[in-house]
Amino acid sequence: MPLSSLTRAFQNGHPTMTAALDVTDARHTALSEVSASDGAHALLQARYRSESRPEPEHWNAVIGQILAHRSVRSYKPDPLPEGTIETLVAAGQSAASSSNLQTWSVVAVSDPARKARLAEIAGNQKHILQAPTLLVFLADLNRLSELGAARAHAIDALDYLETLFVAIIDAALAAQNAVLAAESLGLGTVYIGALRNDPERVAKELGLPPKVFPVFGLCLGYPAPEVVTGIKPRLSPALILHREQYGTGYAPEPVAAYDAAIQDFQSEQRIPQVPWSRQALARVAGPQSLSGRDRIRDALAALGFALR
Ligand SMILES: Cc1cc2nc3c(=O)[nH]c(=O)nc-3n(C[C@H](O)[C@H](O)[C@H](O)COP(=O)(O)O)c2cc1C
Repeated sequence: MPLSSLTRAFQNGHPTMTAALDVTDARHTALSEVSASDGAHALLQARYRSESRPEPEHWNAVIGQILAHRSVRSYKPDPLPEGTIETLVAAGQSAASSSNLQTWSVVAVSDPARKARLAEIAGNQKHILQAPTLLVFLADLNRLSELGAARAHAIDALDYLETLFVAIIDAALAAQNAVLAAESLGLGTVYIGALRNDPERVAKELGLPPKVFPVFGLCLGYPAPEVVTGIKPRLSPALILHREQYGTGYAPEPVAAYDAAIQDFQSEQRIPQVPWSRQALARVAGPQSLSGRDRIRDALAALGFALR
């Protein structure tokens, strides 16, 4: 959609764009004061905080909504409207799936006691308790295992690491589609990778059969209005986008610029300022940085994955 159409979409109160802009402008400029091109620029500026940000050459409501993403960690207690989970699962199932194997499933958890037990596994993250629903996305090779057993068919390829990749990728693609669908409905989300701190306990809690691995959780609910979450900047695309062959993945200057941008963001959000480079290196320093996930290979074996 060219910018002129985008302007019309705003004028007509296009719900997605209104939602995207509504959550975009860090200073809460009234919507009526924001033109479409201002909106596109504002989103890209928020995402990169750099003069070298890309220009909004191509822009439409979908791109606006994707660029307005932010993780939400404070929720209203309101339950999800009837049918929401089904809509999000349809969005998830609309993602591409490797060989259309559809090797993922999801468990929707709303029981506060069960959420509390899952929150404990995930290092007591309070947003799991607050959010009315936690979706747990699963890499699911059990369905094909059962199908093979029912047909007395060989299923040896399920035992290879490649097939686990397939299932984890399927689950991640489905989840991200669900995230975008949720955000388009005004809901907030945050992934919970910390469920992998103890996959066997999660499996027990959710009654998972063998060959099913909890990839991550996803908190789901309406954002608490009193907590304004900004758009977290990202690394310069110069480090991410390579043409034809891999170029520069790391360079000191763009990383220093990004450290500064992240610290500005943290200061605005009133959270402790830590440069990205320091945080990222701490996260990969050693097995102790993995919060128990250094034993994930053992957990996979215990859950029935052979990993050849
Ligand atoms: C697979 C995955 C696991 C994550 N796990 C957690 C988590 O356990 N707790 C949390 O608060 N955020 C978690 N996050 C959210 C990231 O911290 C967040 O996406 C990142 O800081 C970028 O911020 P943004 O999503 O607001 O742009 C996770 C994100 C992903 C993709």
